[in-house]
This record gives sequence, structure tokens and C-alpha cells, in this order.
Amino acid sequence: MKKQFFALFMSAVLMGSLTACNSSTPEATTAAATEAETKEGAEAGGKVLVMATNAEFPPYEYHDGGEIVGIDVEISQAIAEKLGMTLEIEDIAFDSIIPELQSGKADMGAAGMTVDEDRLKNVDFSDPYTTASQVIIVKNDSDITGPDDLAGKYIGVQLGTTGDIYASDYEEQDATIERYNKGFEAVQAMVQGKIDAVVIDVEPAKVFVSQTEGIKILDEALTVEEYAIAVKKGNTELLEKINAALAELKESGELQAIIDKYISAE
Ligand code: ARG
Repeated sequence: MKKQFFALFMSAVLMGSLTACNSSTPEATTAAATEAETKEGAEAGGKVLVMATNAEFPPYEYHDGGEIVGIDVEISQAIAEKLGMTLEIEDIAFDSIIPELQSGKADMGAAGMTVDEDRLKNVDFSDPYTTASQVIIVKNDSDITGPDDLAGKYIGVQLGTTGDIYASDYEEQDATIERYNKGFEAVQAMVQGKIDAVVIDVEPAKVFVSQTEGIKILDEALTVEEYAIAVKKGNTELLEKINAALAELKESGELQAIIDKYISAE
């Protein structure tokens, strides 16, 4: 992975500048830029804090131009600063984040990740930094008006998410689960009439609905969840540092300010 990033960085340099890299994917551009920062950080003697995420989840992490931005990115940056480390973002599939932590390739997972019993067998979670819920998105003219109507339907989710876990319960009631790599792909599939509903976290749901004609979020939330930062199981040293940093960010109001920057109060 590192080598690949470096190669991309070098080819960007050969092309003249990072901005000349327009034809490449946003991931590649960001990876290259991040690698450049990491090199500087390493030269300055700073240690690198590798954050694994899946930047398909606005407003927590998403692509904006060639950059990865969002609530989790800013929280992680603030944590890295407090730890005297340089943040490096690794944008991977959501269901690869836990394996990436287990193998030690990434230090922490910050991806709107819900604290969940099963995940706790494989990773440790920090103190929660926010709460969330799963909601149902449907077309405006859908006959689905609440969770009970999901029986027998085609439900789209992002692979490996709590939405996936929750929706899968409806398989017993003859629902079919369609698992997509990105939440927005599920939304697009629904607009195209391929599936009947999407189950996803409330804040990305709001963003996707605001960007798409003719769809809405049903009032009834399906779950209450807490987001936290994941680390490799047993990495107590890092976990304690992250918790201490999070506590300071909560105390100073910085955490709330970051959230408010991306989510307007209702
Ligand atoms: N909260 C959900 C979960 O933990 C969805 C998170 C998806 N995050 C992302 N960056 N794609 O399963």
C-alpha cells in the first residue's frame, strides 16, 4: 500500500504538480498528498498516526475535490495534533477497516463506526464521540411507511455496516438484502427502481436525500447507536491516549464545534 502511494506521489511529481493529477481518482490524489505530508512529518521527527476510513459517508468522511474531509477527519486531526503525530488517511472499503487494524497496517479506524458487540471481539473502541441511528430511505410514492413494511422487500445497504446487520433480520420475513460498496450506490439503485428501500445512518441519509430528487427519510428511526474510534484489540496505550484527547476535545467544546460545522442543528 505504502509503495503504491509513493509511486502515485512520484508520478504526480513527474507530471509537474499534484494539481496536474486531475485525471486520476480523488483517492489517488488524496493518497499522494497525504503521503507527501507524511514524509514531511517523518522528516520532522513526528510519528505518523494512520487512520483507516471509508470516505463514502458524508458528513463524517467524504471526498471534496481531491481531499478527504468531514467530522471524523477533523476529530482525528485534532487527536493527532494532541498526540504530536501526523495524520495519514487510508481510504479503504468499510469492511476492510477492522482487518486493517488487526494486521497493524492502520492505527485507528474512524469511520462513523458504531460500537457493536461483535466488533468488540476483534477491536477495542474509544469512548463514544456521538450518537446516531439507522433510518429508512424510500421513494416519495413508496408504499413502505415504516419498519414493518420492509417484509418481503428489496433492501439496499452498505456492505458490512450496522444497516446491513439490521436489515438482514428482515430476511426471515422474505426480504432480500442488496449489499453495495457505497451507501450512495444503494440510493441510486433505489432511484432506478432496482430496490425498494435503503437502510443507512441518519446523517448520510440526510445528505443523500438532499442531493437526490423524489426520495425521503421515514420518521421512525430503527436503532440508537454510538460512534467511536476503533483500535487493534489490546492496544491500550493508544486507546488511552485517544480517550484523553477526546475528553479534552469534549471539554473545550472543540468536538461540538466540529460536529456543528458539518451538521446544522434542527
Ligand atoms: N455506523 C455504521 C456502522 O458502523 C455505518 C458506518 C459506515 N461508515 C463509513 N465510513 N462508510 O456500521
